[in-house]
Amino acid sequence: MIRAATLLAIVLAMSACAGSDDADPPPSPAEARALFGQLGPVPQPEDNPSTPARVRLGRTLFADPRLSADGSLSCQSCHRPDQGFAVAQSISPSFATRTERRKVPTLINVAFKRPLLWDGRVEDLDSQPLATIADRIHFNNDPDIVAADLARDAAYPALFREAFGVEGITAPRIAQAIAAYERTLVFDGSRFDRYMEGDTAALTAAETRGLALFVGKAACAMCHNGPNLTDDRFHNIGVPDHTIRGRAPVMATIGFDAKRMGLADWESVTEDLGRQLVTKAPEDGGKFRTMSLRNVAQVAPYMHNGAFATLAQVIDFYDAGGGAHPNKSGLLRPLGLTPAEKADLEAFLRALTGSRRPDPG
Ligand code: HEC
Ligand code: HEC
Repeated sequence: MIRAATLLAIVLAMSACAGSDDADPPPSPAEARALFGQLGPVPQPEDNPSTPARVRLGRTLFADPRLSADGSLSCQSCHRPDQGFAVAQSISPSFATRTERRKVPTLINVAFKRPLLWDGRVEDLDSQPLATIADRIHFNNDPDIVAADLARDAAYPALFREAFGVEGITAPRIAQAIAAYERTLVFDGSRFDRYMEGDTAALTAAETRGLALFVGKAACAMCHNGPNLTDDRFHNIGVPDHTIRGRAPVMATIGFDAKRMGLADWESVTEDLGRQLVTKAPEDGGKFRTMSLRNVAQVAPYMHNGAFATLAQVIDFYDAGGGAHPNKSGLLRPLGLTPAEKADLEAFLRALTGSRRPDPG
């Protein structure tokens, strides 16, 4: 992890050229490695080492609708492999009797993300599946009942024995196996990765200009940095709320969620408060986690509420200095990008698409 001061020095030096008539120079492969870098090996928790048997079990569980109370949803229903391990709609599907209020985040490279969810309320990939099983908006089920159910199945007892080396199906083992599978969803080797390795011809001229803008005039790298192109922090960028405004079921869920997170005045909450739900600090109102930009071309629509259908819309939004919100980050300002610069920036974002590493399961 590079220190914030080093990072800011590089970004500021790069953006100092902005405003002059000359285009920003792109960072060299070595400078790009210092700002971003490769993903490297998958972090493995000591108490849940990935083995092929554990990954295989996890993949089976991930696709099993018996995890949901009415048998209608599996993890895969909302994290669809053919839609970037998300769902290509602004607001997520939900348990039949409920309504979601956020977009499904992609599970691409989720092993490298921490904390989790748009507001960072979950720390740990190994416990997250149990929260999903119990969540009234998602599986609306009891993890212990799921474990008892699977123990009566013809195939699962042997799969669990192979995966854990001991008898018994328990809720924590269900979660560990699913997490082991999720850790195989690693996508890298993008053309930008090859550039960082020194192959400057891996990016086209337009993509290279887009990279220069990303760290320079457009200053995206102030927040989107490190190997997963995120600072893992929370910012309010003023995302508009047209995908949820006026939708009574969504507003009911926003109130319900504020209540279960223990917000004192949950009854008067009319917007998704994001990070404030976790910290309870009013200055965190409307802050959301900086999202990874790896494979970003595959995970439209964008933002916590799916406000933007295309990358071009996202770029126009940042070009205008972000949206309007009393808590909006001071890091955002109008960028003054020309149409050609916007196209270059989008070309660079599209060069961040990598392919999946071999699946050990
Ligand atoms: C009904 C749709 C739905 C189902 C089913 C579902 N998810 Fe999700 N998932 C979501 C939504 C929506 C979020 C974001 C929630 C939030 O931020 O409040 C999410 C967030 C996540 C995250 C955090 C990702 C990140 O970038 O922070 C993980 C990990 C995850 N889900 C894994 C799973 C697993 C494992 C299962 C099955 C046990 C599952 N999900 C089932 C909709 C779903
Ligand atoms: C102040 C920090 C900050 C800066 C600067 C910034 N971003 Fe972001 N970015 C975020 C945050 C926070 C989110 C998630 C916001 C949300 O969902 O409400 C995000 C989300 C995104 C997304 C959507 C990802 C997804 O999966 O939905 C894209 C694309 C994106 N940013 C691109 C850019 C580009 C391009 C720039 C430069 C023009 C930029 N960002 C500058 C903080 C920042």
